[in-house]
Amino acid sequence: MKILNKLKVSHVIPSFIIASARFLWTEDKHIVTTHYTYRSKKLPKSFDGYKIVQVSDFHNAYLGRRSKNLLKAVEEAKPDAIVITGDIVDRRTPNLKRAAVLIEKITGIGQTFYVTGNHEAHYKHFNKLYDVIGRSEVRNITKYSAELERNGEKINIAGINDVWFFGDEGNPKTYRNFQNELRDKVSGLPHGFTVLLAHRPELLSIYSKNNVDIVFCGHAHGGQIRLPVVKGLYAPHQGVNPKYTQGMHEQNGTTMVVSRGLGNSRFPFRVFNHPEVVVVELRAEA
Ligand SMILES: [Fe+2]
Repeated sequence: MKILNKLKVSHVIPSFIIASARFLWTEDKHIVTTHYTYRSKKLPKSFDGYKIVQVSDFHNAYLGRRSKNLLKAVEEAKPDAIVITGDIVDRRTPNLKRAAVLIEKITGIGQTFYVTGNHEAHYKHFNKLYDVIGRSEVRNITKYSAELERNGEKINIAGINDVWFFGDEGNPKTYRNFQNELRDKVSGLPHGFTVLLAHRPELLSIYSKNNVDIVFCGHAHGGQIRLPVVKGLYAPHQGVNPKYTQGMHEQNGTTMVVSRGLGNSRFPFRVFNHPEVVVVELRAEA
């Protein structure tokens, strides 16, 4: 009997480990597409039905054969514009090959705009990444804003570097400089509807002080582990039980879209929190 029990235990433990590993792998690599509709009276009529597809927090992820699924999901969404909202690399990964491939391939699908995340700010090989982006069709809009055009009508698209590019987070000057740059940037745009790309969702109160209609953010990784009541468990710069981990949020007339992102960083897995491609369809309200 003892031998039989030992045999059972010796089978149960490896089976449990294999099942858990399989579960975590699927949770981590199965990409889903999340659709949102955004309505505004300010949006020019020509932009009714305009689709913005967001790819965020790739973190130079190993997706294996699923990297094709990522590009397929973006392509199937039929984007009018693609936005990459930072952390395309992870500062701990020396090889940026996967990020480079993504940059190269995604521009084949549609016009793509990019801003940095905090990982780019502390990335040893940032110059290499900058070269890859510079050689590609991706438009880095951290410096220069741009316009999106449809049937002769235009809206603004602006972006801002992650806060870490402005200095040490412990120094209050850093946030002041970030706010000042954002204010100067947005106030210098032509009058009209404005899309902002910015990495961090916890700074919604700053974005909403400016004339921004919709802002796309990432950074929170969906809170890594999502449970029915607490939802996201932890997010960088928001801590435990974070407020902004996914979805749409509104403050002072500014709507923020938060992507759960695609990759991981120091925390190496996701639970009930599949990596996502976000699709936002803009609708012009009468
Ligand atoms: Fe980040």
